[in-house]
This record gives sequence, structure tokens and C-alpha cells, in this order.
Amino acid sequence: MPKDSLTVIDNRTGKQYELPIQDGTIHATDLRQIQLAPDDHGLLSYDPAFMNTAACRSAISFIDGDKGILRYRGYPIEQLAEQSTFLETAYLLLHGELPSASELDRWVFDITHHTIIHENIKKFIDGFHHDAHPMGVFVSTVAALSTFYPEAKHIEDERSRRDQIFRLIAKAPTLAAFAHRHTVGMPYAYPDNDLSYTGNFLNMMFKATEVKYTPHPVLEKALDILFILHADHEQNASTSAMRGVGSAHADPYSAMAAAAAALYGPLHGGANEQVLRMLHEIGSKDNIPAYIQRVKNGEVRLMGFGHRIYKNYDPRATIIKQTADQVFDLTGKNPVIDIALELERIALQDDYFVSRKLYPNVDFYSGIIYEAMKFPIDMFPVLFAIGRTPGWLAQWQEMLLDKEQKIARPRQVYIGSPLRDYAPIEKR
Ligand code: CMC
Repeated sequence: MPKDSLTVIDNRTGKQYELPIQDGTIHATDLRQIQLAPDDHGLLSYDPAFMNTAACRSAISFIDGDKGILRYRGYPIEQLAEQSTFLETAYLLLHGELPSASELDRWVFDITHHTIIHENIKKFIDGFHHDAHPMGVFVSTVAALSTFYPEAKHIEDERSRRDQIFRLIAKAPTLAAFAHRHTVGMPYAYPDNDLSYTGNFLNMMFKATEVKYTPHPVLEKALDILFILHADHEQNASTSAMRGVGSAHADPYSAMAAAAAALYGPLHGGANEQVLRMLHEIGSKDNIPAYIQRVKNGEVRLMGFGHRIYKNYDPRATIIKQTADQVFDLTGKNPVIDIALELERIALQDDYFVSRKLYPNVDFYSGIIYEAMKFPIDMFPVLFAIGRTPGWLAQWQEMLLDKEQKIARPRQVYIGSPLRDYAPIEKR
């Protein structure tokens, strides 16, 4: 008779244990009963980089990495990208259900009316060096917001949580655009609440001398789709940072600054920036075979390729490729797309990539669209952060409301020196 349990025999003692299996997992704490002596701590599981450890139960996003499937709250990413909007998707991630028409109106109104930042934050941004990377400015200013909203500490208060969620989703584009304007020496463009979330972001980025900026609907829609595609992705490095810092009951601004800092890394959201730098470095299709050889020699990584979970085509990359065509119809083709397509074609025939199941990920094509839309390359990780903000907040809230969660505190296997006595310096 099959049972939902795992029988373990400890060959050191000959003792047998039965560990319950729930949702395809065993509880790591159930291993603690497996002891050599009553006073030892019991067996630990060792899992550097969390390759095979679930740290939470989550109802937000679902990935099947072998099949290349991504769903938010059960809805396929393809349907959301085609039919939803970024703010509606943000509502879905945070509330678990799609909004009614009146709920959506209220939600859009609330986000739209929190877009302005305190004038002192502008002064704060002014203090950054002229060539400050906008992601560094973004991380710092998100953290600084916590000093403007001290009530955000009351993470147990539902109303306070809701207000900080409005503020973070609303102000992320403002901080991002202001970081950009500072580095290019242009006056800050204030939010325009007549525009959509994405249209307003384009306004704050690119408004020049015109009295009123009108975003091009094709670019507005394409960017909205890109934000939807980035909105959540289960327990990746930045989301784990958000949950980890949030688990110590830090305010959400501090937790999100930590998440954005993790995202900045070139192995995570910083990859979109590195992909473009790589494509420019390759320069022409003729140079691709030599570059692939350098990747295979272990000299460089093929940026925008590979994923911890996807062992198939990243579904987000497929949608981005389709969106690129619509953008190029308007902006003209970004010439690096040809290098990217050829790189993908060659890589997907090469045993190095095939045997390791390395496919293009979300970052491989997103930067090519951003560049065609005239975003500077160092803004790419910031664009990822704007899109990911609702996901981080949804995961943070889910963690706070989950009775099983406590402060995140992994264990370690100590491999250092055994006990020894301190030697005075003259005796060393
Ligand atoms: N180029 C060349 N080789 C690679 C690459 C790559 N992009 N990615 C993985 N490999 C190789 C790696 O060298 C290893 O080979 P071997 O078994 O011979 O040592 C094998 O594939 C497994 O790689 P891994 O580093 O153990 O895999 P991981 O799951 O720890 O890393 C990853 C996942 C995304 C960090 C990695 O694939 C990578 O560095 N990709 C390039 C950076 C990138 O595009 N990041 C964006 C990820 S998607 C957006 C996001 O979520 O941020």
C-alpha cells in the first residue's frame, strides 16, 4: 500500500525513521530526530545556493522549467502579456484575483496619485556624481524613502502595508527616471497623472521642451508588456533578498532596496545590460564563432543564456521576440538583433549549450528593445526593477502573513579551526 512518507535508515546507528511527504517535500526539521546521541543537534540538510530547497509555500507565480511555463496566480504569462496591463497584473499578483472594473479604476487612481516624490529626494539625487550608475541611485533612493515614511515600520498594520505598496509601485518609475535625468544633466520631468503608468514613465524619461509629452502608443504598449513579463518570478535571488530582509521585520523600503541590490548583479537583472555590451563587443556576425569558442573555453559567459529553473526556452524571451518586431516597425531595426538571432541559432546547435540545456532567457532580447526605444544601456536593470516591484511586494506580503515563516536564518556546516588558545603577538 503506497504511503506519503519516506523511510530512512541511518546506517551509523541502524535506526529507522519515517518522514512524512507533503506536496512533494520532506520537512528539513524532521531530519533533526536523526541523531547519533540525544544531545547532538541531529541531521542537517546541506544545500549551497538553495539548489533543491523550498523556503516557502507560495501562491503567486508558477514555473515549470522543463516545459517553459510561467503563470501568475494561475494565468499563463502569454495571456496576461497579450490582454492585461501592467497595473492590472500588479493588482492580480498582490490580491490573488483579477480586479473588477471598479476595483481596477480605484487601484489605478491610488497608484497614479502617489507618483510624486518629496522634493528632498530630488536634492538627494542631485548629490550623486554625474556618472552615477542609475541602478546605484535607484537602490539608494528606494532605501531613503523609508526615512520619509517612518510609519512603514508598522508592517503588522494592513493599512500601512497597503499605503507603502501604493507608494513603492507609484514612485519606482519616478525614482528611475530622475536617476536617469541626473546622469544626463537634464531637468527632472514631473509625473503627469493624465498619462498611463508606462506613458508617464516615458514622459519622465524623455520629455524635453514640449509643454505636454505624448507617448507613442506602440512604445507605451511594448514597455507595458515588458513590465508584465518581469513582474514576478518565484523565489529568485532578489525576491529571496526581499523575503529575507522582510523576515527581520524591516520596513518594505529597506527590504526592497536589498532586493534591488541583488537584482543589480550581472547574473540576475544586471544581465540585460551585459547582453547589450556583449552584442556590441561582438560587433558583427563574423565574430560570433570566435566568441562562442571563448564561452566554451570558460573565458566568458554567454550573457542572457541559461537559467536555474528553465531548462527550455524562457517563455518570456519568446514574447519579447514578438514584441521586438512591433517596436522595430516604428523605430527601425536595432542592428544588434541580427547578431543576437545568429548567436542564438549557433548556440542552440552547439553541444556545449544543448547538453547543458542553456536557452535564451528574458534578458537576451529585452535590452535590444530597450535600446531601440532609446533607453541608455545602464538603465536596463532599473527597468527590470520597476517591473519586478509588484512581485517583490506580493512576495513580501505573503511572507508576512504566512504563519509558518519566521526570521530567515540558514544553518551552516562549520569547517573552521577547532578550539585553540589565543597567542600574544610576540609568540606568533
Ligand atoms: N554561458 C556559458 N555557460 C553557462 C552559462 C552561460 N550563460 N550559464 C550556465 N553555463 C554553464 C556553466 O558553466 C555550467 O557548466 P559546467 O557544468 O560545465 O560547469 C553549467 O552551464 C551550469 O551552470 P550553473 O552556473 O551551475 O547554473 P546556475 O543555475 O547556477 O546559473 C545562471 C544560472 C542564470 C546564473 C547562469 O546560467 C548564468 O550565469 N547566465 C548568464 C547570466 C544571465 O543571463 N542571467 C540572467 C538570468 S534570467 C533573468 C533573471 O532572473 O535575472
